[in-house]
Amino acid sequence: MSDVLLEHARDAGQAADPFCGSGIVSWFLAENTDLIVHAGDLQRFASARAAAVVERTKPLDVESLLASWFVVAQERIDRVIAHFPNAMRSVAPELDDPAEIRIAVERSRRFSSVVLPPLLDRVGGCWPMSKAYGGYYFSPAQALVLDALRQTLPRSAPRRDVALAALVEAASRCVAAPGHTAQPFQPTAGAARYIVESWSRDVWGKVAEAAHAIARRAARRPGKATTRDFRATLRMLRPGDLVFADPPYSGVHYSRFYHVLETLAGGREVNVSGQGRYPPAKERPASEFSRKTEAKRAAAELIDICATSRLKLVLTFPVGRSSNGLSAKDFIEFGGDRFSKVEYLEENSQFSTLGGNAVRRNARVQCVEAVVTFLP
Ligand SMILES: C[S@@+](CC[C@H](N)C(=O)[O-])C[C@H]1O[C@@H](n2cnc3c(N)ncnc32)[C@H](O)[C@@H]1O
Repeated sequence: MSDVLLEHARDAGQAADPFCGSGIVSWFLAENTDLIVHAGDLQRFASARAAAVVERTKPLDVESLLASWFVVAQERIDRVIAHFPNAMRSVAPELDDPAEIRIAVERSRRFSSVVLPPLLDRVGGCWPMSKAYGGYYFSPAQALVLDALRQTLPRSAPRRDVALAALVEAASRCVAAPGHTAQPFQPTAGAARYIVESWSRDVWGKVAEAAHAIARRAARRPGKATTRDFRATLRMLRPGDLVFADPPYSGVHYSRFYHVLETLAGGREVNVSGQGRYPPAKERPASEFSRKTEAKRAAAELIDICATSRLKLVLTFPVGRSSNGLSAKDFIEFGGDRFSKVEYLEENSQFSTLGGNAVRRNARVQCVEAVVTFLP
């Protein structure tokens, strides 16, 4: 797919990645072509990830950024743990004995939902990860660190962008959930060890690692990443420009899988409910692509905009019928005849789960995807 993108990038001036997700394709286009890249997604965490590279044209010195950021964040944490006799140890459960994990998890949940909130309210600031997800997706200590880092992000771009993208990545690497954040692991006989493993991860270390990796990257030309609907991203382009589209294929809204990262990116406290500790559906981004009754119309509109605006479109989509009712061939049916040429190839592709971690599962999942190129 990267070869197809590079080939069609040659005579374009700009590119759009209107469903940018993890941001990885926007990064690729920004780093490897001279195109101005416009990234977009309905989810804030996704546009935050993309912004960290596409909007910056020089590598960033991350050492000074991390040093000052971590000091201020630690001060916020100190204000909280000063109220406990054993400081940080009071918020970090003993996890040495996996047989005891159920008790440790229950204690952590009670601690995060009953003991901590009044104290956090007195300290002030927003503590969404601790209040909503402490004892579930993260240990109470990890959640406090995530909140403190979110509260104290550097003020201005590009430092803020790199820091936020690194924080999102660190959270996705530490989260105690299978593949994405639809539901946390429960302390059952089978899954308890995954909680122990995830809760033992060092959030500070993961943030530093991710920040170093992101800050080394840079766009060749300054682009833009925004939280917005695909139509608004496509409006930035002119005839002959390139679109990479990887629209949703799931009949369940992505915001159900990624709400933890979305809450972190938003930085506001949320009321949560259910096994997955979801914020209310009306507060989560919803996509027509994930509603079976609307997916066809949205897909047809994507094709229509590209045909009408004379854009080159490289679309990836699963070959088989997906849970939202669409398959790659549908997109060709919806308007392939409005382009001068349509090229179709299939590849054994992988897609990012972002929440994946290499230790207990693959961060990327295998599937057969079509890469369909529509040329005006
Ligand atoms: C298949 S994922 C993209 C994955 C991405 N290419 C990657 O490599 O990580 C689809 C993305 O589309 C976003 N999305 C869904 N409906 C959208 C819409 N109407 N406009 C913009 N983005 C949308 C979802 O939030 C999700 O991140």
